Order: sequence, then structure tokens, then C-alpha cells
Amino acid sequence: MSFSSSRGAYPLSRPRRLRAADFSRRLVRENRLTCDDLILPLFVIEGRNEPQKVASMPGVERLTVDLLAGKAKSLVELGIPAVALFPVVDPSAKSDDARAAYDADGLAQRAVRELKNAAPELGVITDVALDPFTSHGQDGLMDDNGYIVNDDTVEVLVQQALSHAAAGADVVAPSDMMDGRIGAIREALEREGRVNTQIMSYAAKYASAYYGPFRDAVGSAGNLKGGSKASYQMDPANGDEALHECALDLREGADMIMIKPGMPYLDVVRRVKDELKVPTFAYQVSGEYAMHCAAFENGWLNREAVILESLLAFKRAGADGVLTYFAEEAARLLRDL
Ligand code: PBG
Repeated sequence: MSFSSSRGAYPLSRPRRLRAADFSRRLVRENRLTCDDLILPLFVIEGRNEPQKVASMPGVERLTVDLLAGKAKSLVELGIPAVALFPVVDPSAKSDDARAAYDADGLAQRAVRELKNAAPELGVITDVALDPFTSHGQDGLMDDNGYIVNDDTVEVLVQQALSHAAAGADVVAPSDMMDGRIGAIREALEREGRVNTQIMSYAAKYASAYYGPFRDAVGSAGNLKGGSKASYQMDPANGDEALHECALDLREGADMIMIKPGMPYLDVVRRVKDELKVPTFAYQVSGEYAMHCAAFENGWLNREAVILESLLAFKRAGADGVLTYFAEEAARLLRDL
């Protein structure tokens, strides 16, 4: 059928004009996703040469420490700037006082040394929180009433952060949501002469149901006493409070801030970036990953296209980077585009 392309009766402004050809779509494209935007979360376990699958996160494996060197090298080759490390410790290493968290020869500390030895140029970010190490699976120390106490927890977090820095971590990332922990950690790092250890604060971390698969992956779900982290993680109903939390952490010495979860909280990413104009990251969490994978496996969504679109959305919302379990796959897709 042939139509006239001009009838003269329409407005002079035709947004479709710039969309008509690839050259102009490329010229006016506002945001780009590159491998520089990606941070891969890595689960690490004890043992030798024995990767373990995570049932609720298809394609994600927990790696034994000896497998980290190979992984680190392949990530550098893919151009991924950094990993976020999560230790999965044996139940026998868990206690009420979480003392394994700051063991100089603990799983996280050994994993950091292994990664930095194998690939010094790969940034290593460590998780500062007690949940892998507490017998109750909460991020802090629990009093007799089941309340997660703040200031005593902060003291343990400081020890944990110092032990990560001593092992060679480039960035410590407190994900525990205790009040005042960024200031306490920054001060301790300065005191120890670790002036260039960076802090990426999980500044606005919500009490989200999207963390379910992660808790399976680190084995903290089954034993999560109290069931909820709502007495320290943020209420999903709140947006203004995220700005307050981020501003506090920056004042206390955070170098970068993070919003978590990701996709359901893109409004928060945008508001934080607009207001504070600091390096802002978002975490596409385990539940978001699992949800996407379920749709891919059922053939309901196109895997490659949706992975890239979901990550580009973070850039459009103002994020400087994304922690994502899709990091390696996305880096490969971007390379082969
Ligand atoms: C624990 C921690 C959690 C995640 C990162 N660090 C879970 C939680 O707070 O229960 C979640 C990451 C994910 O779901 O992918 N401090």
C-alpha cells in the first residue's frame, strides 16, 4: 500500500524524525551502558575446586577460594571493574557475637587476598554486616528481647571493616544499616593509616522481600530469627528518608552511596542523584535476578534484550553503576554488540 508521507496537516515537531535512521538514533542517545558500569557480586565458600549451584538463582554459583583467581582474571578480561564479595560460612563458624566476621584468616579475608593476588587491578568490595556470621542471621548483635542493638554492633563492624582493609580490600561496603557506622569505620580506617580505603555505603537499603534468594545463597534464610530486618532496614514506603540516610552517610565519610533494591526503587536513585550529585550505585538484587530468570526460562521474555534494557534503566535513572548478577553476561553481550 502506498501512503503520502506528507499531508501538511500535522505539527512541525515530529519526534519520530530523529528515530527514523540508525545514525540519528545513535547521535541523540542520552545514556549508554558499558562494562565500566558493572559490579559482579560473588559468593565464596570453603573447600577446594567445588563450585555449588544456588537453586533460587539459576546460573549463579558459589565459588571455593581456589577458584577465585581464575574468575578474577576472566573478569578483568571482560572489562568488569569490580566485584562485591559475600562469604558463605559453615554453620559451625556462626555465633551470637559474630566473632568470625573479623578473623584475620576468615573466609572473606582469605578470599580478598586471593583475588588481589591474582588480579590486582580488579576492585574488591567487601560486605560489612554480621548476617553471615550470627547464629540468628540478623545483621547485628541481638539483645535478650530480640532487638538488634546499634552501638555494640557498630564496634564489631569496625573490626570487620579493618580486617577487610588489612586483607587488601579496596572498598568496604557496610550493608547493615546501623546508625553511625560509616563515621565509626571512616575514623578507624584513618587512625590505622588506611586513608585510601574507600567506603561504598548501602545508604538507602530497604527492608525488602526481594532479598529472598540471596538469603538462600548465603544460608542465612533458614535461621533468620525474628523473620524481619525492619527495625534497621528502611520502610519501602519512604522516599524522603532515603535522602536523609544518604546525606548522613556522606557527612560521615562515605565515598559512594548505594540504593537497594534496584528496579522497584529507581525513583529513589533519581531523587538521590538529583539532590546529592555524588557517585550513586544501585543493586539489582537476587529477587530481581531470579524473577528475570524465571521469565527467560519460560520463554516469556527475550533474555539478551531484557538484561541490557533492565541495566540501561539504572543509567537513565542516574546511577553511576549497578551491582548485578548479570554482570558477566551483560559484559559479553556489550562486547559482541
Ligand atoms: C546482608 C545483605 C543482603 C544482601 C546484600 N547484603 C541481604 C539482607 O539484607 O538480608 C542482599 C543482596 C541480594 O538480595 O542480592 N547484609
